[in-house]
Amino acid sequence: MTLVFLGIESSCDDTAAAVVRDDGSILSSVVAGQNDLHAAFGGVVPEIAARAHAERLDLCVEAALDEAGLDLSGLDGIAVTAGPGLIGGVMAGVMLAKGIAAGSGLPLVGVNHLAGHALTPRLTDGIAYPYLMLLVSGGHCQFLHVAGPDRFQRLGGTIDDAPGEAFDKVARLLGLAQPGGPAVEAEAQTGDAARFALPRPLLDRPGCDMSFSGLKTAVLRLRDDLSARQGGLTRQDRADLCAGFQSAVAEVMAEKTRRALSAHPAPVLAVAGGVAANATIREALKIVAAEAGARFLAPPLRLCTDNAAMIAWAGIEAFRLGRRDGMDLAGRPRWPLDEAAVPMLGAGRKGAKA
Ligand code: KG4
Ligand code: ZN
Repeated sequence: MTLVFLGIESSCDDTAAAVVRDDGSILSSVVAGQNDLHAAFGGVVPEIAARAHAERLDLCVEAALDEAGLDLSGLDGIAVTAGPGLIGGVMAGVMLAKGIAAGSGLPLVGVNHLAGHALTPRLTDGIAYPYLMLLVSGGHCQFLHVAGPDRFQRLGGTIDDAPGEAFDKVARLLGLAQPGGPAVEAEAQTGDAARFALPRPLLDRPGCDMSFSGLKTAVLRLRDDLSARQGGLTRQDRADLCAGFQSAVAEVMAEKTRRALSAHPAPVLAVAGGVAANATIREALKIVAAEAGARFLAPPLRLCTDNAAMIAWAGIEAFRLGRRDGMDLAGRPRWPLDEAAVPMLGAGRKGAKA
């Protein structure tokens, strides 16, 4: 039997709804961002995000159903992000999903947002288990060995900032536009990555954990030194700092990926998250995958960043395993995919890095 699911996502600053079929067809995927609402605050303001989700969720769901050419009777279930994330937004989504489920009698499945990201390569490319997923965005940073829809082993992750967060902070330090990733990447193109000796955090330690906050501080120090000596930064200084920072991130990520693949061999290395759009990082990861005899897979960016198609898909996979949730489904601000892994400290600019 074919399954068609509605997915609902509201755990951070994107309000999203999508309709997905179990053969991997995305019948619709609507994403309403909130960048304009948070821009003046330098980060996502949870209360503003929650209110915007509450205002927009039903409109997004209607738009997703319209675009798919379906009404509720054409669905087989509803999947909703139940965490981890900013709890006000998560609750707005969960309450709407419960309302629709109660009104229509459709089954309800609460989905872990990280599982949505981690299962995306199965939606986009139909790959088989197991595979290694590197999830790198403004709020997430982790290696996951994915062996089934609910079988995730966390091999490591950031111990402080998420890499996207570090790109954004470096951009801010150098007076570049937000989001910082694309701005730093553009500057780096004319830069000399070897001019400044930037650290390679945690490379000297075994395992797959990463750290980006020291790298950001190193850029700050170099900027201040240059400013003190020259009275400011030249265009070339800025480009060289960006290139140095980017190549340090790429090198650390590549080496940690090499270790992850060697400890847990997998036929595919998949990436997700906004940082995976970075060409230098991608190239470094491609080389590591090729060395390990693994296929490198990067789903299209609109499905790598927050969206509801991945939530609908993860809901379908969980539903096939027999998972159903009731009206007692609760939102969870923290919800590690791998409950056995040591909890990570800190919460990023965009919410928990669980
Ligand atoms: O996955 P995403 O759209 O949103 C969440 O974080 O949830 O990721 C956004 C992050 C931002 O921090 C942005 O600066 C970073 O991804 N990013 C990049 C690039 N494009 C986006 N980082 C490095 N290089 C890029 N080309
Ligand atoms: Zn996300």
